[in-house]
Amino acid sequence: MDKLLIQGGRRLRGSVAVAGSKNACLPIMAAAILADGPLTLHGVPVLEDIRALGDLLEELGLTVRRDGDTLALQVADTEPCHARYDLVRKMRASICVLGPLLGRRGRARVSMPGGCAIGPRPIDLHLRGLEAMGATIELDEGDIVATADRLHGAEIFLGGPFGSTVLGTANVMMAAALAEGTTVIESAACEPEVQDLAACLNAMGARISGAGTPRVTVEGVQSLQGCEHTAIPDRIEAGTFMCAAAITNGQVRIERVRLDHMVAVVDRLRAIGVIVEPADGGAEISSTRRLTAVDATTQPYPGFPTDLQAQLMALLCLADGNSVLTEKIYPDRFLHVAELARMGARIRKEGPTAIVTGAKRLVGAPVMASDLRASAALVLAGLAAEGCTTINRIYHLDRGYQRIEEKLLALGADIRRVAE
Ligand code: EPU
Repeated sequence: MDKLLIQGGRRLRGSVAVAGSKNACLPIMAAAILADGPLTLHGVPVLEDIRALGDLLEELGLTVRRDGDTLALQVADTEPCHARYDLVRKMRASICVLGPLLGRRGRARVSMPGGCAIGPRPIDLHLRGLEAMGATIELDEGDIVATADRLHGAEIFLGGPFGSTVLGTANVMMAAALAEGTTVIESAACEPEVQDLAACLNAMGARISGAGTPRVTVEGVQSLQGCEHTAIPDRIEAGTFMCAAAITNGQVRIERVRLDHMVAVVDRLRAIGVIVEPADGGAEISSTRRLTAVDATTQPYPGFPTDLQAQLMALLCLADGNSVLTEKIYPDRFLHVAELARMGARIRKEGPTAIVTGAKRLVGAPVMASDLRASAALVLAGLAAEGCTTINRIYHLDRGYQRIEEKLLALGADIRRVAE
């Protein structure tokens, strides 16, 4: 298992390009199950999660070929419909094959995903949506077994106790694309990744309107064709590099960023005192003074994303005053708190809220990555800390950040990967 060694205290300078969005690519790859022709997807980052879904799709009868950042996906066999536990447990997002399998092949057997480090992650809303379209759903030996002759359109409410569901909306939208009649999803997730999926499905011949709003309408069609699509840039990777520039008092140009997807993030960074300037398809991020404490609450899009909560917390560890961070999506997503404390952070957790009291400095320490975004927060803390930080178990990082240490090295960080 690899680990990262970071010698903190270097100001980051230069330019970094953001990869295509992992969370946009995953459901779009699954959408290839629906198409009668080849799907060519550009902007696909080289990540463990993408590879894991590629393996699963191959088991489900697709051919998956990578050429640079382009993936070519095509159905070769429509018989398989079993997403095995072995593959699903490696990556929870595998659940996004459920809707397409059911919609195109009339049956799906998908291992029920378990919980993960960021808390319990139920899929009741996915199942409720598919049932409303006429699917029969049973649980058999830990697998969800879903069947339907042909799904029919329905009015479906997808709001849950924590708001909308991103992959639930994706699953229902994909199943509805080939259903008989019209489906209306109320309280749909508005995330840019859902919009990107709808754009790709429409390019395949689907008839989806309203994606990006809480009401999405899907008029079912008889068949979908292949298409060519470019994934949106990864707003979470972009936000992570923005925090990296800010925490090192650096000056970084981020290429290929969609600031219109990051309004809440830019709002909080500016409130902290970070300068964020749009610059010709990218953004210039700089910070030259002490940071100011702010409050932030994670919410469904367009609110502040839960996937940047840990990184913002790392930044606020060095801001003057008390910051209050409240997690409204995953109330238990705070495993990074105890690791940041090992580096001198002053954080008190009260239920789904963390109160961060800015410290004058952080100090390097050996720390343990617990999940993808928590790992990114530890990297940020390590960049700013005095001395050496060793981050163990970085396979979490490789699930979601393409060559993060090479990108940071190019910006002037003192960082290297070593085999344990
Ligand atoms: N929820 C339910 N019932 C459901 C589905 C979700 O109660 O049937 C709850 C969840 O427990 C959570 C909230 O609703 O409290 C939102 O969950 P959502 O379904 O939106 O999460 P997801 O679709 O499984 C995606 C991202 C996550 C990201 C969340 C929230 C992908 C592959 N994953 O997960 O990304 O945190 O949306 O924005 O798109 C990451 O990239 O690190 C990551 C975890």
